[in-house]
Amino acid sequence: MRLSNSKTEKENTNLANELDKERIPEHIAIIMDGNGRWAIKKGLPRSFGHNKGVSVLKEIIKISKKIHCKVLTVYAFSTENWSRPEKEVDFLINLFEKVLKKEISKLHQESIRINFIGDLSPFPESLKLIINNSENLTKENKNFILNVCLNYGGRQEILKATKKIAIKSSSGKIKPSDIDEKLFNSELLTNGIKDPELLIRTSGEKRISNFLLWQLAYSEIYITDVLWPDFTEVEFLKAIKDYQSRNRRFGGIESLSNESFKDSYFSSLSKND
Ligand code: IPE
Ligand code: IPE
Ligand code: MG
Repeated sequence: MRLSNSKTEKENTNLANELDKERIPEHIAIIMDGNGRWAIKKGLPRSFGHNKGVSVLKEIIKISKKIHCKVLTVYAFSTENWSRPEKEVDFLINLFEKVLKKEISKLHQESIRINFIGDLSPFPESLKLIINNSENLTKENKNFILNVCLNYGGRQEILKATKKIAIKSSSGKIKPSDIDEKLFNSELLTNGIKDPELLIRTSGEKRISNFLLWQLAYSEIYITDVLWPDFTEVEFLKAIKDYQSRNRRFGGIESLSNESFKDSYFSSLSKND
């Protein structure tokens, strides 16, 4: 046991040392998926997977801070998750409240700002109250931002923004020609938060399940078969290492930030022309 722990620690340190400190994503979004399957595989009720999922999230927040990532946005409950059995939905709502009550002072001590993104109106008053208190308590914290997407859906977010813009336009506050990406962005629930550079999805599903549809336009996507309750520091660092190997072209061509590439690119152009 001891041996395997120290082996894991060594693996973590090695991986962490291999990371390019200049290219740590500032904002990482995570679809924390696979809690139910993890529990079922162990012959346990799905709720055990959700409980274990919370401790994994705590660990990932810790590591994110350690490597100087600035923002983590996690998908905790989608607009479609209401279609689950009532018992599971109730369990999740209680879990959110219980965890928030237990963890909020620690998050605050660590100078973490917590934001909730989504339509909170259907949740019980007790949960809404603790959410409100947590956001207020931590709003000046500068060290790290944790965005928790609760009753969140990308399509609903886009529709809401569109309605707000339509109202402003029909009342003459803005002209249709004023509507651009910047204005649209400012009406989204994520207003003020820069787009994630990296999206991680656990449990092997190759879809985004209505998560951050607008914001993920150019995010790098990393999918692992590991179920969220089994997700570890090593897995997280592997995702970041993989991200660092990507060439982010944004529709352009090979990155021109690399000086030697720039030189060879332009000299080859002049030779051919
Ligand atoms: C993700 O795990 C947590 C939530 C959606 C709340 P799941 O509950 O979706 O677990 P699987 O995908 O069924 O295994
Ligand atoms: C996405 O997972 C939502 C969360 C992780 C909160 P789901 O389990 O709901 O997604 P699908 O149903 O597999 O697409
Ligand atoms: Mg799932």
